[in-house]
Amino acid sequence: MPDAYGVRTGEMTVPLPEKFDAGLYFIGRIRTPWTRREDCPKNPRAAAAVCTIHLDPPWADGLKGVETCSHLLVLYWMDQARRDLVLQMPRHYGEQRGTFALRSPARPNPIALSVVRLLRLDGAKLEVKGIDCLDGTACLDIKPYFASIDSVPDAVVGWHKAREEE
Ligand SMILES: C[S@@+](CC[C@H](N)C(=O)[O-])C[C@H]1O[C@@H](n2cnc3c(N)ncnc32)[C@H](O)[C@@H]1O
Repeated sequence: MPDAYGVRTGEMTVPLPEKFDAGLYFIGRIRTPWTRREDCPKNPRAAAAVCTIHLDPPWADGLKGVETCSHLLVLYWMDQARRDLVLQMPRHYGEQRGTFALRSPARPNPIALSVVRLLRLDGAKLEVKGIDCLDGTACLDIKPYFASIDSVPDAVVGWHKAREEE
């Protein structure tokens, strides 16, 4: 495991279960300009680059209707992240938090989520803006983003809000 994915002071790992409970299919790959984790945007809103999701041919028909969507939810697999951290010390926050209070890629199932803007759909290729992963990251799923269902304008992450108000 590269150092960038090591355990920092203040972090805690747990032993991972001996077997997996389910399998999954990678449906394609996400092409981005970033090959090093430190060059990746920290979150999708900080990502200005146009990136491309290349779906594998068998799934192309599943895109019927997607061209009508302005925004999509994209789920992807953070293959280089640790899976055994329960307490983390994010470098840019410097305070210990539980994995499930963070958007860190390190989690038991390293599934990432971004709301992306769909710029263009060309066959099985989607040009999108608003994604924050390394080049070649596997795509797990694509779903329409419904502002009427998914947007919660008054939602709060208390620990983050407190920091912003400092
Ligand atoms: C903070 S995570 C957020 C991911 C997603 N937007 C979410 O909220 O679930 C984004 C960071 O994950 C790291 N990352 C990107 N691609 C990765 C990969 N394939 N494996 C492990 N870490 C990755 C980069 O450091 C990037 O800045």
